[in-house]
Amino acid sequence: MSLQPPKATKTTFLRILEALQFFLHKSIKNLLHYNLNKFLHTENIMERRSFLKVVAASATVVAINPSLIRGTLYADNGMLYRAYERTQLIAANGKPILASKLEKEVNYIFNYPYASTPCLLVDLPKPTATDVELTSETGEKYIWKSGVGKNRTIVAYVAICTHQLTHPTPSDSFISYVPMNGKTMAYDKSGIFVCSSHLSAFDAQAGAKVLGGAATQPLSAVVLEVAADDTIWAVGILGADKFQDYFKAYKPELKQFYNGPAEAKKLVSISAKTVKLTEFSKEIIQY
Ligand code: FES
Repeated sequence: MSLQPPKATKTTFLRILEALQFFLHKSIKNLLHYNLNKFLHTENIMERRSFLKVVAASATVVAINPSLIRGTLYADNGMLYRAYERTQLIAANGKPILASKLEKEVNYIFNYPYASTPCLLVDLPKPTATDVELTSETGEKYIWKSGVGKNRTIVAYVAICTHQLTHPTPSDSFISYVPMNGKTMAYDKSGIFVCSSHLSAFDAQAGAKVLGGAATQPLSAVVLEVAADDTIWAVGILGADKFQDYFKAYKPELKQFYNGPAEAKKLVSISAKTVKLTEFSKEIIQY
């Protein structure tokens, strides 16, 4: 005798099975749906958070009023000052560069505010001048506030000579800070920035004011902040910069090193790798 259920019983049994299947399917579907939603939602929140962080960071930078920055190099009235992304100076190993650990009178190089525009950072042996009035080659006056750090000894300038755009390259650097015990033909005292292409001398202590040579205006200054934790941040550029002339004059070189102008002109943000100039340029040429 077969154990087949009677027809009516089979139908009921199948209905129960179908109901069970439907229930399970729905539960699994709901579960999957819930988890997927949760995942996407979390992703969205995270994305939104990062986005907001970026926006907030940019907004802060854009909102910076030079007169509100304390202990920095800036123009009181904002004249010839331009805020860029607030960028932390970091060593090649990714660790922050600390103001108190800088080697005195050593040239450090980093790129700011663009990926291809070199700047020199130096911790000078004595405090800088304060509130130095400078003049651009077109006659605009602006104020370089002072160096930063505990003793106002840390300065940074754009290392693109304002005469004919000489700048450090991986093969050599004709522009650099000449330490106090160094010698230069550009001026009768050292402890200054010199462009050896045509012997222009810039006052390291006073906003890179022109001391002599062919240059007709100061090097533009990088506006710096030293945070409470001793980290160093670049926040803007003061002075009449030569960035556009530089991009134009060195188009082929920038194309070679940066895969095209867009990459070379990309704004630096978050952090800027900072190394000794001797590690960047094979040869430092100083006359
Ligand atoms: S390019 Fe620097 S002095 Fe001429």
